[in-house]
Amino acid sequence: MSENQLKLRTKFIGTRKVKEYRETIPVWVNEDDVILEIGCEWGTTTRLIAEHCKEVIGTDISPDCIQRAREMHPDLHFEVLDGFDARAALDMGKEFTKVYIDISGLSGYRSLLDVISLLMMYATVLRPEAIIIKSGALKSFASSCIAWRSSD
Ligand SMILES: C[S@@+](CC[C@H](N)C(=O)[O-])C[C@H]1O[C@@H](n2cnc3c(N)ncnc32)[C@H](O)[C@@H]1O
Repeated sequence: MSENQLKLRTKFIGTRKVKEYRETIPVWVNEDDVILEIGCEWGTTTRLIAEHCKEVIGTDISPDCIQRAREMHPDLHFEVLDGFDARAALDMGKEFTKVYIDISGLSGYRSLLDVISLLMMYATVLRPEAIIIKSGALKSFASSCIAWRSSD
């Protein structure tokens, strides 16, 4: 491997369905974390994340969802964001330590390449410790992967 090759420090956690997605919160979210959540809808998961960390920003592409999230959780921070615009996420000016992603349409197997592109984009732009994503496609693919380790 070239010395100049990209070495990712980010771990990727693939979950299937919202129950698994939320189950990760007590395991992966710590009190020092600053979390970016992408695809927060009305802020239900944002509320659960907020109980475990220093700061969370819930974001969604839909202004209607963000308006409702702000009404339902006036003490939490929500912003409109297209999750595919990592530059806009960077411009928020926060050192995000973890990213949660639940964007509609990313579960089917045909979306696997989009999911991997999205994960690589956030891993290189924000460099969080972990990205937790709701994507059955990624979970299934990751379960079939084996990272070969040489014995020498
Ligand atoms: C299944 S809902 C999220 C549910 C939420 N995570 C929860 O646990 O309650 C999916 C959300 O993805 C949002 N979405 C779709 N495309 C998006 C994009 N490009 N960027 C950000 N959010 C997006 C939708 O507006 C919708 O609110």
